[in-house]
Amino acid sequence: MVISVGDESLCKISSIKRCFIILLASPLIVGVLFFMLKTQIQVDVFHGVVKNEDIRNDQSYDVERTTSIIEISSTSQEILPPERGLSDEGSNVVDEEKKVITPANNTETTAVILLTYMRSGSSLTGDILQKSPDTFYIFEPLRSADFANREKKTVRYINGSYLLHGQYDLQHVYEETLYGWLTCDLSRVHAQSFFDIGFLPYAHNFHDYLRCIRGAKYGNLMTRNALYESKQFMDCLKELEQTCKSSKVKIVKTIRTHGAIAQSIFKSIPNSKILHLIRDPRATMESKRHRNVCHEGMTLCIAEHCDRVRKDSLVLQNLKSSEPNRISTVFYEDIASNPIVTAKDMYSFIGTNFTEKIASYVYNITLGMDTTGCKVCVQRWQNGKKAKSSETHIAAWKSGLPGTYINQTQVLCKDIIKNYGYEFYMAPPALKPSKSQQMLGRRKKAIRRRV
Ligand SMILES: *[C@@H]1O[C@H](CO)[C@@H](O)[C@H](O)[C@H]1NC(C)=O
Ligand SMILES: *[C@@H]1O[C@H](CO)[C@@H](O)[C@H](O)[C@H]1NC(C)=O
Ligand SMILES: *[C@@H]1O[C@H](CO)[C@@H](O)[C@H](O)[C@H]1NC(C)=O
Ligand SMILES: *[C@@H]1O[C@H](CO)[C@@H](O)[C@H](O)[C@H]1NC(C)=O
Ligand SMILES: *[C@@H]1O[C@H](CO)[C@@H](O)[C@H](O)[C@H]1NC(C)=O
Repeated sequence: MVISVGDESLCKISSIKRCFIILLASPLIVGVLFFMLKTQIQVDVFHGVVKNEDIRNDQSYDVERTTSIIEISSTSQEILPPERGLSDEGSNVVDEEKKVITPANNTETTAVILLTYMRSGSSLTGDILQKSPDTFYIFEPLRSADFANREKKTVRYINGSYLLHGQYDLQHVYEETLYGWLTCDLSRVHAQSFFDIGFLPYAHNFHDYLRCIRGAKYGNLMTRNALYESKQFMDCLKELEQTCKSSKVKIVKTIRTHGAIAQSIFKSIPNSKILHLIRDPRATMESKRHRNVCHEGMTLCIAEHCDRVRKDSLVLQNLKSSEPNRISTVFYEDIASNPIVTAKDMYSFIGTNFTEKIASYVYNITLGMDTTGCKVCVQRWQNGKKAKSSETHIAAWKSGLPGTYINQTQVLCKDIIKNYGYEFYMAPPALKPSKSQQMLGRRKKAIRRRV
């Protein structure tokens, strides 16, 4: 008998059964080894870089597209010389001594929080908004802080200061980071946010920056502090800050911002706005279940989701009553079924021009089923490569979410469904009807047909 893998002698002396097990197990072992090797490649060199497995837990990551931070050192031969000249331009200068970037002071800019929830269509919505040349877009900048906290890691800042786990309040780190990005004051952004190379590429305006940090030569500066303090990194960051400051509208898309934090930002940044993206909770739950992100079980997952939406809605509705032009609610279903009109409204809300070209793009990536140029649309955790009209997402939960969960969502999220004007749905019973019931049903239908 020929067995090329495994221990041959073991195979011979033992029973055929044992041999069979080895045969079956060997591809598995090879697979596990390969997987281990693959994860090893994505080593977390700097604490700021998010590991593969975490990202997979986040269910919002495409492993194939990962570029590890290691590339920074391994590709250091192809050095892009840091662009010079920016440091002479007055107000946007990094203070070389303190390495603190002076805060932005442009009151003509608008800061927008796209506040939403996991599996609620925010990637698509954010991509629509970043199509305006006037926007500076940041995709989930709080994720790296969330992961640092979950791994009990230190939170760092580019001035070299850091807070050990236990010394920081995550909500405060979130707020500072939001404030920092929305005002282009990068000294307030936790430093790991600048290295979230899994997510930063989903914003067009980060492409030059990413090229810059990949090209920069860090030499042997393999410690985080040395990296943050390196001139190359600071030069890249300076350019990024310049891009941020020259943009009319700053937009942060976030699923980790609670209403209370948003409210605090809203009050501290004069021209700030909040765009609250709402999706039918039954559709969100169907999508979460499909993506397998409800680790605590569906019931708790439904309750938690709706609890957050409920709390946020209260805070935002309250703010809206005093500042109606600075708070807006948008429904994912409207974006999916009526993308051009809805996108136009969103553009008008954030104060950017909605051009023919943008309208064409919006149509293409939604109803037009052509995702060219939308990097985030084609990710596995979004639509993947399959072309599907955005309209097909709207009612998919009716067939995709088991009736028990539809019913549970309708009970636990009753007020949300009602307040946002979604229709209640009579979910079919869980169990297959018995033969006699089926007969009865058929007879009833036949009678109806005759009438
Ligand atoms: C921002 O603008 C205000 C008023 O125009 C001015 O008093 C303040 O010094 C400026 N701050 C910075 C950091 O430039
Ligand atoms: C460094 O930046 C952090 C975050 O903005 C700030 O809290 C801290 O006071 C700064 N430290 C120094 C020494 O400037
Ligand atoms: C937006 O439209 C207005 C009015 O048509 C125009 O004045 C302004 O220059 C436009 N802005 C940009 C950035 O194209
Ligand atoms: C939208 O798709 C059409 C047809 O595929 C294409 O001609 C057009 O250039 C696309 N629009 C944008 C803005 O990409
Ligand atoms: C859902 O609720 C409806 C109405 O109460 C009920 O008729 C149906 O059997 C329920 N379905 C499941 C699967 O629990």
